[in-house]
Amino acid sequence: MAIIETRALAKSYGKIQAVRGIDLSIEKGEIFGLLGPNGAGKTTTIGMLCTILRPSSGSASIAGYDIVNKPAEVRRNVGIVFQDLTLDTILTGIENLELHARLYGIPSVIRKARIEEMLDLVDLKDRAHDITRTYSGGMRRRLELVRGLLHRPAVLFLDEPTLGLDPQTRARIWDYIKKMAENEGITVVLTTHYMEEAEQVCDRVGIIDYGRIIALGTPEELKDSLGGYMVVMRVNDPPLDTLRGLPYVSGVALNGGMVEITMKEAHLHLPDLLSRIRNVESVETRAPTLNDVFIKLTGRDIREEYTEDTGGWVESAARYRQRGN
Ligand SMILES: Nc1ncnc2c1ncn2[C@@H]1O[C@H](COP(=O)(O)OP(=O)(O)O)[C@@H](O)[C@H]1O
Ligand SMILES: [Mg+2]
Repeated sequence: MAIIETRALAKSYGKIQAVRGIDLSIEKGEIFGLLGPNGAGKTTTIGMLCTILRPSSGSASIAGYDIVNKPAEVRRNVGIVFQDLTLDTILTGIENLELHARLYGIPSVIRKARIEEMLDLVDLKDRAHDITRTYSGGMRRRLELVRGLLHRPAVLFLDEPTLGLDPQTRARIWDYIKKMAENEGITVVLTTHYMEEAEQVCDRVGIIDYGRIIALGTPEELKDSLGGYMVVMRVNDPPLDTLRGLPYVSGVALNGGMVEITMKEAHLHLPDLLSRIRNVESVETRAPTLNDVFIKLTGRDIREEYTEDTGGWVESAARYRQRGN
């Protein structure tokens, strides 16, 4: 049975249609990723699923509980880690977890052991008694991750769990997320604009753009849908129509000064392809990425659109007010 079901789930902020009808079915135990550019509606979707935001239309349920009619039951079943850090930096690691455990009414007899277990899971035992202001960004993230797990939720929502972290720290966090999902037997829904994150962490990915899911599948399925390898060339005045007409070519796109050709069996057909193009300055072949999938579907690049001004629902609301709307 699916642990998360959404039907035509939608949310508008005044005239802005942030989420425009999402149908998803997420199975127990999955690590599911919502991948999309800034403003796609990721945070808003998560906000509705954990009952912080009320949908404008459509419906959703978590563990069988309707998000509008049974918010208390939904909340008991979800943990959430927000895009913006919410740790209290004058408290120690252990105090932060204590505070949260009390908020969730975790009985004192099991509280201590549970906190120990969580600190162990993310290798923070040594630093548990230091105030979190002294933690690195990666350590704070790790503490946030397990804080969301303290009350043993069935579903953990992670909104941009590695935003702004350096690549090594990001990769470590990915390992922790996978370990947590496995150890705790939970379902994880994360949002990200890092395609590597979606590819390497998630069992299944929904690509979201302008409030709609435009592609859904395992990372492999999504990449396979492009139909083969990418050949990227720098060419002066490329014969685009000729290229598009070739039987082994499944896609041709111009990206900056480069021609990106998707083709089957590149190793067989590359000589023929090259014989048809003059003025090739450089050629490179590579496996497709989820960004290529996004480009094929939208004609845009996820990375180009992203600014670090990521605007969670809290931030966006603040910005929105500042604009005087
Ligand atoms: N509180 C809000 N008030 C008005 N518009 C908002 C608010 N929160 C988000 N938005 C808008 O809704 C759209 C989706 O935002 P969001 O869900 O934060 O996207 P993402 O998390 O994918 O970046 C954006 O156009 C954003 O500006
Ligand atoms: Mg967001």
